[in-house]
Amino acid sequence: MSRTPYPIRVFGDPVLKQTAKEVTELDGKLARFVDTMVDTMYDAAGVGLAAPQVGVQKRMFTYDVGEGPQVLINPQVAEATGEWEYEEGCLSIPGFHFKIVRPKVITMTGLDLDGHEVVVEGDELLGRVFLHELDHLDGVLMLDRLDPDERKRALRELRDVDLERLGLERLDDARDL
Ligand code: NI
Repeated sequence: MSRTPYPIRVFGDPVLKQTAKEVTELDGKLARFVDTMVDTMYDAAGVGLAAPQVGVQKRMFTYDVGEGPQVLINPQVAEATGEWEYEEGCLSIPGFHFKIVRPKVITMTGLDLDGHEVVVEGDELLGRVFLHELDHLDGVLMLDRLDPDERKRALRELRDVDLERLGLERLDDARDL
């Protein structure tokens, strides 16, 4: 049985600028929400998806960098080391990619769906997914990580495109976060 994916909120939607709230209820309802988030992430060919991107203000995200679907609830950075440049994309800003430098190796803490505390380490792409999705929970988009000139240029370009349409036509092999 396949679930109907959620519509993904795109740049300009105020929900993407808000700070999400801690998850307090880990129940069957949350588990079903996670299943649909995972389906939504796969449907959009993304490697990460944060709850606010589907309009839900909860501190949690799903991801899969090739090892199967995972969820991290109430995530926090425990350690971040090194430096790594990666051309980031975002399911909420379809069609746009920006080279962004962030730490390379990230250790995250959080909860799994059973409420157990977990510690997960991500190097390179996985570390990038962690930081990018965590930003979404704080209302921060990858545009906010650009230098002022680059950001201005990107905002100008964004004004001229219909992101919702781009999102629906998402057919390439982009790995957006
Ligand atoms: Ni994103």
